[in-house]
Amino acid sequence: MNTRIYKVTPEALPDILTACRDLLSRGELVAFPTETVYGLGGNGLDQEAARKIYEAKGRPSDNPLILHIGKKEMLYPYVTEVPEKAERLMEAFWPGPLTIILNKAPSVPYTTSGGLDTIAFRFPSHPVANALLKGLEFPVAAPSANLSGRPSTTRGSHVIEDLDGRIAAIIDDGDVPIGVESTIVDLTQDPPVLLRPGFISLEELKKVVGEVLVDPAVQNQNIISHSQVVDHPKAPGMKYRHYAPKAPVTIVSGPEDKVAEAIRNRADASTGILTVDEHVKAYPEGVVLSVGSSKAPETIIHNLFDVLRRFDETGVHKIYAEDLTKEDSTGAVMNRLLKSAGGNFVLWDEL
Ligand code: TXA
Ligand code: MG
Repeated sequence: MNTRIYKVTPEALPDILTACRDLLSRGELVAFPTETVYGLGGNGLDQEAARKIYEAKGRPSDNPLILHIGKKEMLYPYVTEVPEKAERLMEAFWPGPLTIILNKAPSVPYTTSGGLDTIAFRFPSHPVANALLKGLEFPVAAPSANLSGRPSTTRGSHVIEDLDGRIAAIIDDGDVPIGVESTIVDLTQDPPVLLRPGFISLEELKKVVGEVLVDPAVQNQNIISHSQVVDHPKAPGMKYRHYAPKAPVTIVSGPEDKVAEAIRNRADASTGILTVDEHVKAYPEGVVLSVGSSKAPETIIHNLFDVLRRFDETGVHKIYAEDLTKEDSTGAVMNRLLKSAGGNFVLWDEL
């Protein structure tokens, strides 16, 4: 398939949006930027479009899709009820990087919900996503615009890398502002349950709705140590190995100097090292990539997926990543890093 690639400029945007709305209305797929990561969009009410999404990503079709809307009112026809806590969360965080799960109405096909009776909704704040969605009569199903298993796409170039030739169009607007996927909260239960940490932290959610439980699929110690965990993992997507570079990743934890020494002792030219700006000099050998400054945690969120992708271009055989728990107030960075490492987390003296 010949993929149209639209580079966003203020002058070109109106025509790009018209062309892409037209493609979506005809059941085609369009990748577009959101404030979190790029999304791979298709008509969420069209079973055929949902099937195309699963196929283009190479994604198992039991993994449900998030419906994206450009105005809050678009939510109501597609869910059976909206609890008061959901209203409060929408009021506090929409438009923005929060996804809520509600009970789905029959109008949403099971192909979109991955066979579940619940459905995820998100109202993105990115101006391009917002303008695109506002002009449509249907919600847009959009998983992250990456091939299944690979790190999510945070730059237009990442989307082209993964999906050129597989979908009808890509809207390339460069870097996204945040760089990690939305926070997901299940509101079909009370208290609500955090299914995936994101840019909006557990603490911020609790300020709005009080108690919030944590799904067991969220393995970060920094999140679960001060929270109650519920019984069964709920977000089907969290069970897959994810965000993974080709080389195996090991996260190394402990005092800074011990971690650096342990990694240094095992590093050669074909070793990848994922670190922060402040520690780059500690590693004279290996492919050393910094995710950002420990003094500016938002840079780490912004660069994490790009760095995980760049390791693949370098041909490293193994990757050591420093434990970033200290730099990670949202829990989202360690959640994704742990998944990219398949849970392979060790202390410096176990390496
Ligand atoms: O920031 C984001 O949320 C991005 C952008 C494009 O909006 N989208 C995104 O979608 O990350 P995706 O498909 O890559 O991840 C959605 C996650 C999956 O882990 C999926 O299993 C879970 O949400 N999910 C979706 N619907 C669900 C439901 N009804 N119940 C439980 N989990 C659900
Ligand atoms: Mg994804």
